[in-house]
Amino acid sequence: MVRLISDSELTASSVVANRTMNRERGLSGVNSYARELGFDPAGWLRERGAAPGWLDLCSGEGRALAEAARLLPAAAELTGVDLVGPLAPPPAAAVPGNLRLVTAALADWAPQRSYDLITCVHGLHYLGDQLGVIARAASWLAPDGRFAAHFDPDSVRRPDGSGAARAVVAALRAAGFEYRARRHLLLLDGGRPVELPFEYAGADPAAGPNYTGQPAVGSYYRGRAGL
Ligand SMILES: C[S@@+](CC[C@H](N)C(=O)[O-])C[C@H]1O[C@@H](n2cnc3c(N)ncnc32)[C@H](O)[C@@H]1O
Repeated sequence: MVRLISDSELTASSVVANRTMNRERGLSGVNSYARELGFDPAGWLRERGAAPGWLDLCSGEGRALAEAARLLPAAAELTGVDLVGPLAPPPAAAVPGNLRLVTAALADWAPQRSYDLITCVHGLHYLGDQLGVIARAASWLAPDGRFAAHFDPDSVRRPDGSGAARAVVAALRAAGFEYRARRHLLLLDGGRPVELPFEYAGADPAAGPNYTGQPAVGSYYRGRAGL
């Protein structure tokens, strides 16, 4: 029987405090958001008008946001949230005025506004209640906004240890998400309230490496209504 821990215990565990994580992706190029997401976030935001908003969950060093802030109009609002602040923070004078990096656990944080673009690049792998964050992010999205996140359905399990991938992907699709299995990318176009038929039971910090090769978290859920 797997010992499940709470999300507050998880944030102090070695799987989340893993120093070898790639936290430094830039906006474009080899190690980048554009490459991982399959679209250029700044180009996408530029078409949204003079004051687009981008929220990046698990933003790491915030490099992609900082690079985008320099390319987008001054009225753009870019927000990054990460459990750990930048390990190599730039001097304050070098931080663009329209960029805000928040140090917080996602389970304890909510924005004050809606966003045109919400991304989570290889961040869900380290969260316990991944489905809770996905549902909350959908509600923070503008009516014509886009959510894009890397998601590994195999990381979602039932309390007896069996996999819940198929049921979870089916429920996400029923809620309007698209799942691109080859890229492990979950997408939603258009903000909306999302209620998924799963109840969070806890996290397994010792689930082992996922498809990225890095140690990741197992997320355990009880299905509601026979799922
Ligand atoms: C693999 S890194 C990706 C960082 C960034 N998205 C990138 O691609 O460069 C995963 C990030 O998730 C953050 N993280 C892990 N658990 C978190 C939590 N509960 N709340 C917020 N951020 C978290 C880690 O601190 C880490 O910076």
